[in-house]
Amino acid sequence: MLAAIWCKACSAGRITRWWTPRSPGGVTKLPPGMPITRALSTLGLTGLTAYFGLLDVGRVVEGETVVVSGAAGATGSVVGQIARIKRCRVIGIAGGAEKCAWLLREARFTGAIDYKSEDVRTRLRELCPNGIDVYFDNVGGPILDAALAELAFRGRVVLCGAISSYGAAELPRGPRNYMNLIIQRGRMEGFVIIDYAKRFGEAVKDLSAWVAAEQIKDHVDVQEGLENAPKALRRLFAGENRGKQLLKIADP
Ligand SMILES: NC(=O)c1ccc[n+]([C@@H]2O[C@H](COP(=O)([O-])OP(=O)(O)OC[C@H]3O[C@@H](n4cnc5c(N)ncnc54)[C@H](OP(=O)(O)O)[C@@H]3O)[C@@H](O)[C@H]2O)c1
Repeated sequence: MLAAIWCKACSAGRITRWWTPRSPGGVTKLPPGMPITRALSTLGLTGLTAYFGLLDVGRVVEGETVVVSGAAGATGSVVGQIARIKRCRVIGIAGGAEKCAWLLREARFTGAIDYKSEDVRTRLRELCPNGIDVYFDNVGGPILDAALAELAFRGRVVLCGAISSYGAAELPRGPRNYMNLIIQRGRMEGFVIIDYAKRFGEAVKDLSAWVAAEQIKDHVDVQEGLENAPKALRRLFAGENRGKQLLKIADP
């Protein structure tokens, strides 16, 4: 049995009903051959979040420049891969050289920025000389601020999460560069994935086809033992997870 590690901002969501909103009692029988890890990752709530956040809220168009933070994580890695499938230039922001190397080599992003060792604003200017058309934000804080400053004309900022602030004793001050939304006639919009429940089927259909065609790679990190649940949850905040954080409780 596997459990998805569910973070603070998602606590309003109900992972048991991901496959179809009409599943009786919230229990879903997986199709034959479907790995449970995939059902909880690329085809699970984080994959669905990536899909609707990028395509519906971000309204990405072929040829645009997409930047995603938390890029090597469960949601971010799928966002970037969908953007690549939609023929966009995609730049991922992640913590550490190893994660950035994975983005370039395995997820085939156009570029990667290691926010722990590089100046994000400088690198965004280098990698997005015409500005950012869609910024998919998983982290908030100074990275959101840097992206706002580099927004292109009619750029969109998709507010998915703000993990940099979840543990903060005091809420941080708002982004300084939000006025660039005015100058660039931009749009910043938040969303919560459960609002798309009635449309999950259409996303699962597309995501399944992309996985089957090896255009999207599952990226999962399975820890073991119910007693390790708190430790597994903390991995998200320390950036120790490599893709979707799952916890194996017992064999099926
Ligand atoms: N709106 C919705 O409906 C919805 C649904 C699902 C998830 N979410 C949000 O989506 C985001 C990603 O969730 P996920 O489950 O896919 O997790 P994830 O990206 O797999 O894991 C979290 C990642 O956040 C990064 N991180 C942690 N602290 C950070 C900090 N202070 N600054 C910058 N990055 C930091 C770490 O990567 P690095 O090593 O790169 O730092 C870590 O691996 C979260 O904010 C979550 O709340 C929203």
